[in-house]
Amino acid sequence: MKRLTPYSWLILIIFSSCLTGNKVASTDKQIESLLSQMTLEEKIGMLHSNTMFSSTGVPRLGIPDLHYSDGPHGVRFEGVANGWESARWDNDACSYLPALSALASTWNRDLAQLYGEVLGAECKARGKHVSLAPGVNIHRSLLNGRNWEYFSEDPFFSGELAVPYIQGVQSQGVASCVKHFALNSQAYNQYKVSVEVDERTLHEIYLPAFEAAIQRGGAMAAMAAYNKVRGLWCTESPYLLDTLLRDELGFDGLVVSDWNAVHNTERTALCGMDVEMGTSIKENGKYAFNKYYLADPLLKKVRNGEIPEEAVNKKVRNILKLMIRLDLIGQAPYDTTGMAAKLAIPAHTKAAREIAEESLVLLKNSKDMLPLDPAQYKNVAVIGANATEVFAAGGGSTKLKAKYEVTPLEGLQNLLDGKARIEYAPGYQLSKKAYKVGHWFTNEFDKSDEELYKKAINTAAQAELVIYIGGTSHEHGSDCEGYDKPNLKLPYQQDRLLKGILEVNPNTVVVLISGGPVEIGEWYNDATALLHGSFLGMEGGNALARTLFGEVNPSGKLTTTWCKRLEDMPDHVFGEYPGINDTVRFKEGLMVGYRYFDTYRVVPLFEFGYGLSYTTFTYSNIKMKPVWKDSDTEFAVSFTVTNTGKRYGQEIAQLYLHQNKCSVERPFKELKGFTKVGLKPGESKQVTIKLPRRALQYYDTESKRWKDEPGMFTVLIGASSRDIKLQKDFELKK
Ligand code: BGC
Repeated sequence: MKRLTPYSWLILIIFSSCLTGNKVASTDKQIESLLSQMTLEEKIGMLHSNTMFSSTGVPRLGIPDLHYSDGPHGVRFEGVANGWESARWDNDACSYLPALSALASTWNRDLAQLYGEVLGAECKARGKHVSLAPGVNIHRSLLNGRNWEYFSEDPFFSGELAVPYIQGVQSQGVASCVKHFALNSQAYNQYKVSVEVDERTLHEIYLPAFEAAIQRGGAMAAMAAYNKVRGLWCTESPYLLDTLLRDELGFDGLVVSDWNAVHNTERTALCGMDVEMGTSIKENGKYAFNKYYLADPLLKKVRNGEIPEEAVNKKVRNILKLMIRLDLIGQAPYDTTGMAAKLAIPAHTKAAREIAEESLVLLKNSKDMLPLDPAQYKNVAVIGANATEVFAAGGGSTKLKAKYEVTPLEGLQNLLDGKARIEYAPGYQLSKKAYKVGHWFTNEFDKSDEELYKKAINTAAQAELVIYIGGTSHEHGSDCEGYDKPNLKLPYQQDRLLKGILEVNPNTVVVLISGGPVEIGEWYNDATALLHGSFLGMEGGNALARTLFGEVNPSGKLTTTWCKRLEDMPDHVFGEYPGINDTVRFKEGLMVGYRYFDTYRVVPLFEFGYGLSYTTFTYSNIKMKPVWKDSDTEFAVSFTVTNTGKRYGQEIAQLYLHQNKCSVERPFKELKGFTKVGLKPGESKQVTIKLPRRALQYYDTESKRWKDEPGMFTVLIGASSRDIKLQKDFELKK
């Protein structure tokens, strides 16, 4: 391609900004024209839902109803208009992608983009305009029942995967709604609890993923969360929605409330919240959509002059802007003919499998027990309830109707296909009897079933190989929306079961499926191989079997620290979980996850960024400039990664930054870059990670700006946050 001269660049920039400027002007013109033709009733009609998952349009002006659907890992089944139940369509079964926590552990931006494209395409096929995902809340407490719907304990990392995810969804002509804004880091008491957090922590830990989603991902919508922040509900907080979200982060899209999260007409009308979704108010057994705070009560207040009509106009403008961006105005209503043929098509199920395969994290592999050789075993025992459990239809608002879901047992049967006899024994049973104790849902998690236990031990004793597939599930009180977990223990006395199995058959591979870290019992020392997966989607069973038997080399790494004991976690150490008198103070400040473990020198069970492979890698030859000049906006760090083993493998190389001396406290190190590189045996590749200036900075609460201080920094290149392979200093000179 011919290189452009500086002059042609200038012309191009002026031309494209004219185009953008023209587009903005014409969108604004169209919005004002539509607005001027609308009655007050029509405008207010647009500000609240008219079914559980749509808000009203103005048909006479070509403004359609806006249709929303839950993500993050598939399109929710079609629901009845006035409730949460399924409408029992026979053509809405869709792809069930791995949970966001699984996508996260791939550390693969391209897969995040692919994930978004699949989800976006299926939303589009289902006639949905807004996909209610991704959730980018931070794993502050490991007990949060929704962590598996989010990416990580690390803000930078969460943003890095949220950006391509959102771009993927939106490339299909569907708006992505980033949620839950903000500080929604626990389910316990979430409808009441008020979060107290200092400004620096807010900016450095809880906002960056939203910032990335908005500024780089271009998210067209955002969801205001259930909780309060500094005493005000998120749906009525001018500080959160106007000062932070719209002014500081530059969000110019649509804000919807979480379902039934609005509590006040006036305060919500007067801040940057646009559409009220979900209600608990019923009349004659039906949800009364006109009773919403932003429905009849708002109409009354505007009519009698308590609330200016301009407050309504502002919200309608945001809705219309989103509709224009999606080219919805004047379009014919959605036609469902041929819909089923666009869902869970082979390209989508292949994507689901690839994502699941890259998400698996190998935590232990002594004596190279894995991968297994299929020719070596004729008699295999599969033990554990997660071998046969299906997950698509559980978990809370993410539940969906999957076209199919391959369980781990089915995956193993597919792979071994008659070559070995598989004996299955669950060993324990999910009780699925949720009941509430205070704010916690609990199950009969302490229960064990003696008969199932004995049968499993017997089956294990007689097999040449045991594959244990346990962990947690989407039962209430486990990895499920609504309530937090009572503790991190493996439910149904799985620690005892695993101990028993390993005693009778040390040739056991342990697979744990869970939405996040669990506490591991004493059996761990006797276990040779441990593989972790999150909820793995419709192709999970195949992905798992292919990984265990070496068709796939595991390449996932942890995105949240696994503590030895729950009491080691910063939210417990600093004493503010789940809060006192409906207030939770994030007293640990910046010290979330590995930031705390590293700075306070606490040893985790498995650190952030950890994960093994069936091959080995070395790192060498780090190169970068010794001085970062004030005029430099970017800084390149290069190094070489070599596959020193005998198999193809992918390595996730991570870049952490340490500032040697600073006038404010900084975490010992923070993730600022990463790359995933695929290497054949013996192959080396030079990789480069580029750091923007922001990577050096902290949020200065006095100037309300990101600030850096001159001095020495250390770049740490690691295979995990603790397995540092290379390091080098540079000086920031001003
Ligand atoms: C959840 C949201 C979800 C909404 C609609 C709420 O309970 O918090 O994440 O999008 O329901 O299903």
